[in-house]
Amino acid sequence: MKKIVVLTGAGMSAESGISTFRDAGGLWDQYPVEDVATPEGYARNPQLVIDFYNARRKQLLTVEPNEGHRLVAALEERYDVTVVTQNVDNLHERAGSTRVIHLHGELTKVTSSFSPNNPQYIRELRPEEYEVHMGDCAADGSQLRPFIVWFGEAVPAIGVAADHVMQADILIIIGTSLNVYPAAGLVQYAQSHARIYLIDPAEVNVPYNRHIHTIRKGASEGMRELSAIL
Ligand code: APR
Repeated sequence: MKKIVVLTGAGMSAESGISTFRDAGGLWDQYPVEDVATPEGYARNPQLVIDFYNARRKQLLTVEPNEGHRLVAALEERYDVTVVTQNVDNLHERAGSTRVIHLHGELTKVTSSFSPNNPQYIRELRPEEYEVHMGDCAADGSQLRPFIVWFGEAVPAIGVAADHVMQADILIIIGTSLNVYPAAGLVQYAQSHARIYLIDPAEVNVPYNRHIHTIRKGASEGMRELSAIL
């Protein structure tokens, strides 16, 4: 079975109603990234950060996977597929993808403020626990924090993700501006024989000199077109 790695970003979930970050009116226009997505912002005003992620979790309960997510999941019928996502939502899983690596964490999980990457403290929330409060504690007694990789923090899953990209026959990139490292650098691990496809309605500057088959469409329409030619 041929191996496919699908690298996704916020554009993958745009048609489900979740805003992207860097498009006009995107999340980073509405909330200063240094306040809600950095360890310094969290140290300054933990309440603001906790509220921001509570709102993201609440939204998760109101959105559904789109056709693009479902077509990515359907690739598993014919290929060995690993999804490497920068998204913190759970829409790939809900669409049926069985192997999903979350580079930037997961909204549905919380962890310790002291040792965020210690697996001992990472915990899945039940939907009725989606609203986290100041004073809610992890098993080490520290404030529960979102299990999210913030700017300036290590990306523990990057090595495993790079190994998958290195073994891929086909790399499919969907809905990411490739502005954020180390995620954007994963493209560099694709072997020279690997075919690379990119689905995005906007022009994306891929930082490596590779031949890329570009489908300039949204995630659902683009995945429909790609599924037909694969
Ligand atoms: N279908 C596919 N792609 C789309 C769609 C759509 N319907 N709508 C928009 N896009 C594309 C945009 O053209 C853009 O290239 O999705 C991309 C979104 O880019 P960003 O907002 O920069 O999101 P992303 O690349 O996922 O950001 C990476 O940055 O802020 C951090 O941690 C956050 O994981 C995030 C990371």
